[in-house]
Amino acid sequence: IFSGPISFLKSAPQLQFLPDPTAPEIAFAGRSNVGKSSLINALTGRNGLARTSNTPGRTQELNFFDIGDTSNGPPIFRICDMPGYGFAKAPPKVVQKWRYLINDYLRGRQVLKRTFVLIDSRHGIKNTDENVLEMLDKAAVSYRIVMTKADKVKTTELEATKEKVIAAAKKHPAAHPELIITSSEKKQGIDALRMAVLEAVQI
Ligand code: GTP
Ligand code: MG
Repeated sequence: IFSGPISFLKSAPQLQFLPDPTAPEIAFAGRSNVGKSSLINALTGRNGLARTSNTPGRTQELNFFDIGDTSNGPPIFRICDMPGYGFAKAPPKVVQKWRYLINDYLRGRQVLKRTFVLIDSRHGIKNTDENVLEMLDKAAVSYRIVMTKADKVKTTELEATKEKVIAAAKKHPAAHPELIITSSEKKQGIDALRMAVLEAVQI
C-alpha cells in the first residue's frame, strides 16, 4: 500500500472544508514541532509530501493525503496532518482557532478510525498533551501514543520516559496500551507504525 499511489488531497482551514467522508481516516496529532509532518513523510516514504519545518507552527490547517489510487473513486484511506497544539508563541487568537479546529475534527469525524498522538522522546507527556488525551477519552476516539525523535535521547533516558508514558497511558481508557517508538531521522519504528496504521483502517 505504501509503495502505491499517495497524493496530497487538500488543506482545510475550517471544518466546512473537510473532504467528503468517503474513506476511512487516521490523524496525526501532537504539540507543535513534535514531528508529525516528518513522521507522515517517513511513513509514506515520500520526502516533502507533508511540509516540515524547524519553526514550530509550520502546519496551520488540516492537511489530507490520499493513500491509494483515486482515479476510480475514493482512496483506500486518508491521513490527516494536524496543526500542532500548545504553541505558546502564536497569537492567542490563532492558538484558539487551531484548538477549536483540532478538537472539533477529532471529536466529530465519523470516518476517523484512530488518532496517533505524538510525544517527543525528550519531553514526555506535558499538560497540553494530557488535555488532549482527556478530550479523546471523553469523545471515545481510539488513539495510540507514538514517541518521536528517539534518536535525540540516550537509551537510558528513552527507557525512563517510556515507563512514564506507559504509566500515564494506563490512566486513559481510549489509549492503546502499547507505545510505538520512532525516529523519522533514523527511520526507526516505521514498520511498526505502518502495521499500526493498517490495523487501524482494517486492511
Ligand atoms: P508543526 O507542523 O509546526 O506542528 O510541527 P510538526 O509536528 O509537523 O513537526 P515537523 O515534522 O515539521 O518537524 C519539526 C522539526 O523536528 C523539523 O526540524 C524536523 O526535521 C525535526 N524532526 C522531526 N522528526 C525528527 C526525528 O525523528 N529526529 C530528529 N532528530 N529530528 C526530527
Ligand atoms: Mg507539521
